[in-house]
Amino acid sequence: MSGELFVEAHVNYVKDLFRHPSYLIHFMADHLKMNALYWGLGTLFLVHHKEEFPRDEVIKFVLTCIDDSNGGFGAAPNHDAHMLSTLSALQVLKMFDAIDILSKEQKTKLVEFIKSMQLSDGSFQGDQFGEVDTRFVYNAIQCLILLEELTPEIADPAVEWIIRCQNFDGCFGMVPGSESHAAQAFTCVGVLAMTNSLDKLPKKELLEWWLSDRQVDNGGLNGRPEKLPDVCYSWWVLSTLAMLGKLNYIDGVKLEKFILDCQDSDKGGISDRKDKEVDVYHTYFGICGLSLLGYKNLERIDPIYCLPYNITATIKKYPYNE
Ligand code: FPP
Ligand code: ZN
Repeated sequence: MSGELFVEAHVNYVKDLFRHPSYLIHFMADHLKMNALYWGLGTLFLVHHKEEFPRDEVIKFVLTCIDDSNGGFGAAPNHDAHMLSTLSALQVLKMFDAIDILSKEQKTKLVEFIKSMQLSDGSFQGDQFGEVDTRFVYNAIQCLILLEELTPEIADPAVEWIIRCQNFDGCFGMVPGSESHAAQAFTCVGVLAMTNSLDKLPKKELLEWWLSDRQVDNGGLNGRPEKLPDVCYSWWVLSTLAMLGKLNYIDGVKLEKFILDCQDSDKGGISDRKDKEVDVYHTYFGICGLSLLGYKNLERIDPIYCLPYNITATIKKYPYNE
């Protein structure tokens, strides 16, 4: 029989980490601070404890991370804007129903920044330094949807580029021709789902089988063949299968036990594997996985946006004219 989710311990773990946003200075490398805020807040939302976060203080912190040179969000104050931190910032604001706190000028500059990251082949770079990755396409598309600014001029070439990242085995890599990886399956299928283009996905069955092969004997999921299982793939693999309507391709009972076994019952938090050090990233994605599995009393997570359904219910879905 599976164990229990130690909700109270996890709430205390996240609360301690974020008692004051400046605490993050001690706990989290600068370049991950904005992502960590999203993972922490997301955890509290899923276990019905969002009130534990100091809303006004967090919003103030997010606004201090705006990069005045281009309008995007950095990972921490005085950091250059990046697509990774820009999506997390907007997700945090969205969870607090605070996107409209951004002024018209701030929004216009932000949308310009995001659009300026798209390259002529439809892909997106993460910042002005030019690294291209399917993650940044996912980030850009979700950001533009949250801002209600996605257009076919942006979406159509992005979808075409994403499809070029699919490999012969059905899964996706970071860029065309690179190694298949379960997290890239999430970003690519996520882009297709957000743009209402899932019907354009080639080799769907092959991808579904590739994803179901990620479950190993102890019930955990890995990100690539021959790799060790890791709690975060409970999200990357399962959310992709959920978008494809194939959650039943994974043994949920065994996966639930694998995730619950990775909890630290004393100090709270979840690690990537049993008896390892916990972190807020694996805590969030472990609980996201449990939510997709229908674990009792958890808020249900939307596999497309990685936000609770009660938040995504208020998103104006693309295309806007349907
Ligand atoms: C694995 O990273 C994860 C990825 C490559 C995908 C990350 C996706 C995004 C940033 C898009 C936004 C996501 C959400 C949920 C809103 P890793 O380097 O830990 O992989 P490893 O297991 O190979 O080390
Ligand atoms: Zn991991």
